[in-house]
Amino acid sequence: MPRLFPSFPYADRMFDPEGPSLRELAVQALSSVEHGYDLLAPKFDRTPFRTPDAVLDAVASALARRGPFASGLDLCCGTGAGAAVLGRVCRSRITGVDFSAGMLDVARRRVRCDGPPAGWVRADARALPFTAAFDLVVSFGAFGHFLPRELPGLFAQVHRVLRPGGCFAFPVVAPPRPGSPGYWALLGFDAVMRLRNAVWRPPFVMYYRAFRLGEVRRELARAGFRVELEALPGFGRRGDGSPRVRLVVARR
Ligand SMILES: C[S@@+](CC[C@H](N)C(=O)[O-])C[C@H]1O[C@@H](n2cnc3c(N)ncnc32)[C@H](O)[C@@H]1O
Repeated sequence: MPRLFPSFPYADRMFDPEGPSLRELAVQALSSVEHGYDLLAPKFDRTPFRTPDAVLDAVASALARRGPFASGLDLCCGTGAGAAVLGRVCRSRITGVDFSAGMLDVARRRVRCDGPPAGWVRADARALPFTAAFDLVVSFGAFGHFLPRELPGLFAQVHRVLRPGGCFAFPVVAPPRPGSPGYWALLGFDAVMRLRNAVWRPPFVMYYRAFRLGEVRRELARAGFRVELEALPGFGRRGDGSPRVRLVVARR
């Protein structure tokens, strides 16, 4: 079973020796989200922030049972991790959207997809420059960059760019048990980010504790989606029997 430390959100993977130094990470964290990712882009795939292949594989297998889909969008695509998923389940075209030009440059150079043609678009997820052109929208590891009050607008954007019947799908890791090492690590990380944002401009929003399944389901329903949850069995269950990782599938 793949190990998962449900925080950043996949921080069980240690930093690679070829990954960013602490100093580089600190400089990134003192920038805006957009510019911070521009700086991190060349080494991003060597950090625990890139979604692990085990998660991508599990999501692709779950979506393959619901597909195939024609046109797919990876929201906040970064260096293109989600292209591996869209390439397996989409038949006509895949698109990655992100507001960091640096991350998109890496995606353009690194992603080689045997499936449908891929395109990369620089845009803010809160103002997507598309019409209702997609049958599937996926997103990985990026919701911590949105404040809870931004979720209604974000979900409305996704709803707008999906064709009727299209799906918005993303994995959600269960929060760590209160008192566990993961709980304290996440709490500490959140506290550091809030302190940093209280004293430094521009802000760097990265609050993974704020993205809660109950609220997410409510906001998706409010945006007009029908929401289903599917356990991703490869990641096991918590002590109380609930799945450690679920796939949220919201249908327009
Ligand atoms: C942790 S990375 C995840 C990248 C990729 N999805 C993955 O799983 O490896 C978060 C990405 O979200 C992007 N991002 C954050 N806020 C965004 C926004 N408002 N609009 C577009 N992209 C955004 C960042 O530029 C970054 O590439």
